[in-house]
Amino acid sequence: MYIGNVEIKNNVFMAPMAGVTDKPYRTICMEMGCGLVYSEMVSAKGLFYNSANTEKLMDCDEGCRPYAVQLFGSEPEIMGKMAKRIEDMPFDIIDVNMGCPAPKIVKNGDGSALMQSPELVEEIVSAIVSSQKKPVTVKIRKGYDDDNINAVEIALAAQRGGASAVTVHGRTRPQFYSGKADWEIIKDVKSALNIPVIGNGDIVSPETARAMLDSTGCDAVMIGRAAEGNPWIFERVTHFINTGELLPEPSRSQKAQTVIRHARMLIDFKGEYIGVREMRRHLGYYTKGLPQASAMRAEINTVMNMEDIKILVDRYFLGI
Ligand SMILES: Cc1cc2nc3c(=O)[nH]c(=O)nc-3n(C[C@H](O)[C@H](O)[C@H](O)COP(=O)(O)O)c2cc1C
Repeated sequence: MYIGNVEIKNNVFMAPMAGVTDKPYRTICMEMGCGLVYSEMVSAKGLFYNSANTEKLMDCDEGCRPYAVQLFGSEPEIMGKMAKRIEDMPFDIIDVNMGCPAPKIVKNGDGSALMQSPELVEEIVSAIVSSQKKPVTVKIRKGYDDDNINAVEIALAAQRGGASAVTVHGRTRPQFYSGKADWEIIKDVKSALNIPVIGNGDIVSPETARAMLDSTGCDAVMIGRAAEGNPWIFERVTHFINTGELLPEPSRSQKAQTVIRHARMLIDFKGEYIGVREMRRHLGYYTKGLPQASAMRAEINTVMNMEDIKILVDRYFLGI
């Protein structure tokens, strides 16, 4: 499929997730067959005031593409200027966050607060589209709240502004990430638009990915939480979509190898102090469902270096 002029090799994408989808994890997911990866959300205003840190924040990497950088903000002029400033960096698509429900983001008029204003949505997209050459996409929710289920209206505004695709997360802002995602709204947006629509919410397996494609008609699926500590989901989903065959879950030794590699990449990228601490969160995800959960959790919170991580992986994944 194409998003604007960017060719995407398959229709299974990894959701942008702050604190999760940094460069090391994006690289691992891409290697497992993910079709498109997204950065963590990056503040356009932050870039505006602190351009020296731009590159590190977005973690661009020539080897891990196609890659979408996600910006958040609500001032069309700043969004357009920042998009222009980063245009020559090695990424392919600019995505605009119109779904973040966090109070500190919404209070500034950013993230899902934009769901309240179709005019502003159109203006923001149009400002970014006209300032630079890369395709622009938006990621929206089902609606601002239960009284304003307006994903179709917002998606149409983005399309008028020149967006090349729209991702719909089938929950309202007050739902955050709880409750069941509404896939009907994804179907409604798909019927209303003539640009690709990416469906998001509650894809947890190859079968649910297939079900979302079939029931909504969306062009691609985006996987969030089910990809935490589970990069194999991309291989398993793409294989199932292409062949109808279910690949087995990864073995414990496959998992152990990936965890060690992930930790090394994170430490190389962020240094030992930050890398190890951030790896604790990923270890929590990777070890979900393993026996001895509470002992393991306590141990995860005390790992201080690569050696500690290796001991933990040997003990809980390999039983050594
Ligand atoms: C830890 C975490 C961080 C997230 N950060 C972002 C973000 O930076 N930008 C964004 O658009 N959505 C973010 N999301 C929302 C996801 O992209 C996705 O829309 C949501 O998790 C629903 O998909 P799922 O049911 O597959 O998890 C985040 C979600 C989680 C759980």
